[in-house]
Amino acid sequence: MIHSMIYRSHTDLTPSDDAYRHIIDRARARNFSLDITGFLHWEDGIIHQWIEGPAAELFIVEQVILSDRRHRNITVLDRGHALEREFEGWSMAASTSEDSSLFEFITRSAIASFAHAAHARNILSFMKHRLPQVA
Ligand SMILES: Cc1cc2nc3c(=O)[nH]c(=O)nc-3n(C[C@H](O)[C@H](O)[C@H](O)COP(=O)(O)O)c2cc1C
Repeated sequence: MIHSMIYRSHTDLTPSDDAYRHIIDRARARNFSLDITGFLHWEDGIIHQWIEGPAAELFIVEQVILSDRRHRNITVLDRGHALEREFEGWSMAASTSEDSSLFEFITRSAIASFAHAAHARNILSFMKHRLPQVA
């Protein structure tokens, strides 16, 4: 069973910072070694990140992420489990609003409510659409 978690947080980092690149590199290395996959999107100082994997490993990575003080106001939007991964083969896909805007995607979508589960599915849908084009 693959467990997943999606959260939103605020950060002062911008994608052009060395520290930001370092976080992505470190995240990919640890995720790879723990069989965690996912997607991270930065937009206007707001992070949305989906992580998924086996329960025990997901718990470890979650603790690492949640305790990193370079982001704050962390809100877990949803948790779930499924038989298959959404981001198979991606230790951590990453995009920014320079590539494509999540906020515009949400505004255009039919979902008026910010009820967390529906909102989370909408963000996942954005991430899956982005996937063919990210590095
Ligand atoms: C927005 C954000 C996302 C992160 N995502 C992950 C992740 O997916 N996997 C992970 O292991 N750590 C993640 N981290 C934590 C950092 O990658 C890692 O703990 C940090 O770079 C410490 O590495 P260092 O000891 O080399 O400085 C994240 C941190 C932040 C701020």
